[in-house]
Amino acid sequence: PSLASSSEENFVACLSEKIPGELLYTQSSSGFLSVLTASVQNARFATNATVRPACIVTASDVAHVQDAVWCGRRHGVRLRVRSGGHDYEGLSYRSVRAEVFAVLDLARLRDVRVSPGEASAWVDSGATLGELYYAVGMASPTLAFPGGACPTVGVGGFLSGGGIGLMMRKFGTGADNVLDAKIVNADGVLLDRAAMGEDLFWAIRGGGGESFGVVVSWKLKLSVVPRTVTVVNTDRTFDESTAAVLAKWETLAIRPFLPDLTIRAVVQGNNTVFQTLFLGSCSQLISKMDAFFPELGTTAADCREMSWVRAMAFIVLSSKDVNVPLEGMLSRTNNLSGYVKNKSDYVRCAVGKAGWERVYREHLSRNGALMMIMEPHGGVVGSVIADSATPYPHRRGVLYNIQYVTYWCCAADGGAAEAAAGLINGLYGFMEPLVSSNPREAFVNYRDLDIGQNAVGDDGVTTYESGRVWGEKYFMGNFRRLATVKGKVDPGDYFRNEQSIPPLLAV
Ligand code: FDA
Repeated sequence: PSLASSSEENFVACLSEKIPGELLYTQSSSGFLSVLTASVQNARFATNATVRPACIVTASDVAHVQDAVWCGRRHGVRLRVRSGGHDYEGLSYRSVRAEVFAVLDLARLRDVRVSPGEASAWVDSGATLGELYYAVGMASPTLAFPGGACPTVGVGGFLSGGGIGLMMRKFGTGADNVLDAKIVNADGVLLDRAAMGEDLFWAIRGGGGESFGVVVSWKLKLSVVPRTVTVVNTDRTFDESTAAVLAKWETLAIRPFLPDLTIRAVVQGNNTVFQTLFLGSCSQLISKMDAFFPELGTTAADCREMSWVRAMAFIVLSSKDVNVPLEGMLSRTNNLSGYVKNKSDYVRCAVGKAGWERVYREHLSRNGALMMIMEPHGGVVGSVIADSATPYPHRRGVLYNIQYVTYWCCAADGGAAEAAAGLINGLYGFMEPLVSSNPREAFVNYRDLDIGQNAVGDDGVTTYESGRVWGEKYFMGNFRRLATVKGKVDPGDYFRNEQSIPPLLAV
């Protein structure tokens, strides 16, 4: 849509009065497309058919965020908030339906201020996980943050969706480690934890992005880790013994309780990689592996000992070089060649050796463009922290999360997209009896519009019933509380997208 109507023109005029012109891009600005695609991660949503924003505000100050909300409310133009642009359905910069909206891009708001003495950091939402890891690692060799495995993911979206990663068995999700936050609410007012109150502070730590306002910065609790951690990558070609190893692996998350040890499994085609991060030395790791997981056959020769920040660079930059420059984590360059579709599941009962053989034979072996990434739960994330402590509910009894990924090239080739959809939907359908049910759980950070989309009622507000369809899969028993908080802080539903929390109003 173009900026045709008077409300849109008035919106831009309102912004122009308050925000420097070089931070505003309308569709006719020469830099519009390059700013729009600067952090787009999925080529599916960078086509001419994509419903694009009428304008982009690249806020460089919190006051600009407040101004954008204020102008948007006043002139009836909605904002889509973007931190790192990794949303799997592109909801931070595109709309599924034809509508006029603006993107509020936070990439310029990206300071990381570490206080090593009190093991905490304030980080702005537009920073990436790589920038956070780098700043923490530079500040102290024994401090860390339990984040995810991709350096360009934005802190804003990651924490808004809970945020899972290789250290959650020891320290919980990313959002479990948020101590304070600053949010611009639907009235354009900046609030910290004390001012927003505990209900809203609970909701923004995992209740999904966009719904409650614009979180501009977060105070994080940093974790204390040993000076030396150990990383091991074990590659296996899929065969009967790999199925047996996977069957053993999936029982490890909960029993025994080994929070310092995380082994992530990535299965693609006939290749299975077990990625191990151990918060301790190689010799300690080997004695644990010998006792609990001898089937993987890990030996001291497989170990790479290094500092935590170096381990993160090694893992998130997918490097084979233990001396990979840490500065690689600061790159924000995106690669827009891939067309990607993701789905997710949670496993509560082991799939077992025969199950893994069928997954491989009937699905993975058929095409390499299908991947399963599996993150073990248990430990602190699964047993110490209550299911209702934050909106992330997939804790007690969860063995692991599965992320399904399929990818293809290119847009013009409709057949490739259809074939990829067939692959991922076929596997997702096959997995149904093997994964959680009633509801079939899903992870909000692995956004999937196939599981449901909001409907807007005649009053212009998202209906609670339409939100429940997808919302109870992401949030289970926490969904109703999220909707109640939304009803209090944004009853008119200004902040919304196709999967935002609907307001549940007190009657
Ligand atoms: P983006 O800017 O697209 O925002 C995502 C959503 O949050 C949108 O709805 C947006 O409007 C909203 N939002 C963003 N900033 C906000 C703010 N400041 N205030 C309010 N709302 C805001 N996840 C994970 O948990 N562990 C992992 O290891 C990984 N790994 C991973 C790898 C790769 C390659 C990708 C593409 C994605 C992941 N993810 C992940 C998923 C990722 O955490 C998820 O997509 C996040 O929402 C991305 O955050 P961004 O800020 O980058 O997204």
